[in-house]
Amino acid sequence: QTIYLEDYKPFGWIIDDVHLTFRLHPTATRVISRIRFRPDYDVHHRPFFLHGEGLKHISIKVDGHEVEPTHVDGGIEVDVPEAPFNWEAEVEINPEANTALEGLYMSNGMYCTQCEAEGFRKITWYPDRPDVMAQFTVRIESTASHTPVMLSNGNGLYTSTDQTQKDTPSVTIYQDPWPKPAYLFALVAGDLIAHEDKFTTMSGKEVNLAIWVRPGDEDKCAFGMEALKKSMTWDEEVYGREYDLDEFNIVAVDDFNMGAMENKGLNVFNSSCVLASPETSTDANFERIEAIIAHEYFHNWTGNRITCRDWFQLCLKEGLTVYRDQQFTADMRSEPVARIANVLALRGRQFPEDQGPLSHPVRPESFQEINNFYTATVYEKGAEVIGMLRTLVGADEYSKALDLYFDRHDGDAATIEDWLQVFEDSTGRDLTQFKRWYSQPGTPRVTVREDYADDTFTLHLSQSTAPTPGQDDKAPQVIPVNVGLLNPNGDEVMPTQTLELTETEQSFAFPGHATRPVPSILRGFSAPVILDHDIDNARRAFLLAHDTDPFNRWESGRMLARGSLMNSIATGAAPDLAYLNGLGAVLRDDTLDPAYRALMLGQPSQTELAGLLHDTGDTPDPEAIHIASEALRDAKAAALADVLPDLYQANQVKGAFSPEAGPAGQRALANAALSLLSRSDAGKQAAAQYQQADNMTQQLAALSCLLDAGQGAAQLASFQVQWAHDRLVMDKWFSLQIIHANPQDAATTTARLTEHKDFDMKNPNRFRAVMGALSMHHAGFHYRDGAAYALLADWLIRLDPLNPQTTARMCSAFQTWKRYDPARQEKITTQLDRILSQPNLSRDTTEMVSRIRDA
Ligand code: ARG
Ligand code: ZN
Repeated sequence: QTIYLEDYKPFGWIIDDVHLTFRLHPTATRVISRIRFRPDYDVHHRPFFLHGEGLKHISIKVDGHEVEPTHVDGGIEVDVPEAPFNWEAEVEINPEANTALEGLYMSNGMYCTQCEAEGFRKITWYPDRPDVMAQFTVRIESTASHTPVMLSNGNGLYTSTDQTQKDTPSVTIYQDPWPKPAYLFALVAGDLIAHEDKFTTMSGKEVNLAIWVRPGDEDKCAFGMEALKKSMTWDEEVYGREYDLDEFNIVAVDDFNMGAMENKGLNVFNSSCVLASPETSTDANFERIEAIIAHEYFHNWTGNRITCRDWFQLCLKEGLTVYRDQQFTADMRSEPVARIANVLALRGRQFPEDQGPLSHPVRPESFQEINNFYTATVYEKGAEVIGMLRTLVGADEYSKALDLYFDRHDGDAATIEDWLQVFEDSTGRDLTQFKRWYSQPGTPRVTVREDYADDTFTLHLSQSTAPTPGQDDKAPQVIPVNVGLLNPNGDEVMPTQTLELTETEQSFAFPGHATRPVPSILRGFSAPVILDHDIDNARRAFLLAHDTDPFNRWESGRMLARGSLMNSIATGAAPDLAYLNGLGAVLRDDTLDPAYRALMLGQPSQTELAGLLHDTGDTPDPEAIHIASEALRDAKAAALADVLPDLYQANQVKGAFSPEAGPAGQRALANAALSLLSRSDAGKQAAAQYQQADNMTQQLAALSCLLDAGQGAAQLASFQVQWAHDRLVMDKWFSLQIIHANPQDAATTTARLTEHKDFDMKNPNRFRAVMGALSMHHAGFHYRDGAAYALLADWLIRLDPLNPQTTARMCSAFQTWKRYDPARQEKITTQLDRILSQPNLSRDTTEMVSRIRDA
C-alpha cells in the first residue's frame, strides 16, 4: 500500500478532451463522461486502468459498445483498442452521504467539490493523476429552484437558467481552455449571491471577478475582493504573470477540510478563509484571508499552468506558492513583521514535525495517503528552501530563473529536477548539494564559535543534523548564513553578507577590525536551522538594543526571554532583568513600528519550551513550564507598569475601522499591553474595552483578557447571544473557553462544549475550534491525569469513519509524545493503541498513528 517516488510510470494514454455532464441530485447525482483517449506511443506498456472509488456503475461504452469493466483495487481495468477510441461512462454518486468532504459533496444545501489530491476518482472513472492533463467541458443539469447558480472551471459558455422558471430543467455549460489535471476540477451549485467586480489585466483584457456566498454573507466579501485585485496586480508587477480566463470565481463553503483550493478559475474557500467584516473578523483573520486569497490566486501559474508530475512533487507548487504569498504579504504589510510571523509559524509547526516521528523530506519519497503530506514541511519548509535559493543566487538571478521556468515549463507537469535544472541553466550554479534540502529531513543545527586576533574576526561554523526516521546519516547541506558586524558602540561596520556554509566545518575570516566586532548571525533567519551560539545575556541585550537587522533584533529579545524561562523552569529563579529592561527600552521607542513592538512583547510558547527542554536532554514538566510562563508575564506586567498604560492609550485607533497593517499594528500593541495590564487591574480596563468595542479584534482581545483574569462570565454569555447567528464567530466562542481554561479544567471544559447543541463534529471548522484548541493548550492537553488525551482520542475515533482527512491531521497533536515522562508516555500510547485497534480505521488515520507510534 506504500507508494514510492522511484516507481513513477507515465500513464500511457493521452486525453484530448473531456466532456462531463452532471445531473444534480442530492442523493443520486448522475455523472456522464465522454473522453477521447489515444495511445501514448512513447510508453511501451499501456495497461488501461482508471481510478474510481465509491462509484455506482451504470454503463461504460468504448466506441459506442457496452463493455464490462474488471473491478480492481481502487478502480477498473477495461479492454480497449490499441488505437484512439471514445470512452463514455455513466455513474451515480451520493453527494449528501459524502461526509469526507472529498469529491462531490453537499455543504448546507450547496453542491461543491474538493478534488485535490485524489478526490476526482470519487466523481467518475478517470486517470486521476496530475500528469494527465486535458481540456474539460462541463455541462450541469438541474433546475433554477434547486440550484439557482451553477459554476465550473474556465469560462461560462452558456446557461439556460431562468430564475422565473423555477422548475423547468436548466442547463449551464462551462469550458476550460487550459489543459489541466483532474485535481483542479471543480463544480459548485446552489443558492449563491455574487459580490462582483472587474479587473483589467496588463495586456488590457477585462476579467469578471466574483465572490459567491450564501445569502446573508454578501456583506463579508469586500475585503476578499480587494485582496484578489491586489494579488492580480502584484503577480503582474513582480512575476510578470497575467490572468488567463474571462472570469475568476471564488466560492465560500462552510464545510471544508483545509483552507482553500486553487481549482482553475473557480477557487473554493473554507468560509473562514474568505469572509470578513470588522464586526466579525479579527485583524489576524483579515491578514490570513489576504494571504490565502493571494496564495490560491498565485497557484494559477505555480500549480495550474505548471503543475506537478506526481504528488511527490507537491512542494514544487506549494513551497513556491507559499513563498510567493509570503513575498506578497511582506510587500502589502511590513517586511520584518511578516518575516517574524513566518518564523514563528515555522518553529511552531514545522520544527516539531521535522524533529519528531512525522519527519519527512520536503519532497517525500513514499506515502500511503498523500493527504497526510499537506504538511508544514512541504509548505513552509518548502517555501524556506525557495527563499534560500533566492538568497544564494540573488534577487535578479532569481527573477531571471523564474522567467525561464514559466517559459520552459508552461503547460507541463513538472518535477523538482526540472525546477533545479532551470536554476542551473539560468545561473550556471551547480545545485547538486542544494538538492539535499529536498531529500534530507530534519532541522540542521549550526554551531558558531568566534575568534579575534590580529585585527581579524573569525566565525567558525559547523553543521549537523540529527537522525530522522529511516535516515541516520546526514550529509552537509548548503546553508546561507546572513551575517552583519557591529562595533561596540552599536554601529554597523559590516552590512549583511551571505556566508555559504557547505562543509561540516568551515571558517570565515573578516580582517581589518581594529576593535573586536559583535556579529549578528543568521539575519532575517536566512535558513531554517537551529542556531547554536553560546553568548551571554549582556551580548543579547546589546543586540536587542542595537542590531540593525530587525529580525535579529527581535530574535535577541526572544533568546533573552527563552533563557529567562529556561532558568525559571530549572531553578525557579525570578525572570531575568536584562531581558525586562531591554524590553522596556524597545517598547518606549516610538520610532519602532507598533506591530513590531507587539511581537517584542510576546514570548516563546509552552510547546516551544517543552521542545527546547527535550532538546537539551531534559524531560519537560508541562506544569512547571506553565508556571514559569505565567510568572514571566507577571514580571513583565510589573516591570513595564509605567509604560503599559501609555502604550495602551497612545495606540488607540480613532475613526472608522481599517484592517490595514498600520491600525492593525496599533491594535496589536494596545491589546498586548492590555493583556499585561489586566494582570494587575483585575480586568477593569478590559471590561471597559469590551463594553465599547465596535470590532471583533477589540472585542475578542478584551474578552480574552477578562477570561485570563478569571472574569468574563457575563461577557461570555452576552457574546454568545450576540453572535449565535454567526458560525465563524461562534467558532471563536468555542475556542476561547478552552484556550483560557486552567490546565486542570481544559479537558472538562472541552467535554462540556462537545455537548453544546451547536457542536457539530461534521463541520471541520467547529471540530477544530474545539479539539484543536484543546490540543494547543499545552498545559491542559498534557495535564497529568491524561483526561485530555483520552478525550481527543474518543473524538478522533468518532470522526474517523465520517471524515478521515480531518481526523488524520489532528492526530499530530500526539506527535511529541516521546518528549514527556514515562507516565504521560504510557497514557498517550494507550490512546494511540486504542485508535489503531478500531476496526476499519481509515488509511489516513492508520498511517498517521502508526508513524507517530513507531517512533
Ligand atoms: N492546494 C491547496 C492549497 O494549498 C490545498 C488543498 C489540499 N487539500 C487536500 N485535501 N489535501 O491551497
Ligand atoms: Zn497551495
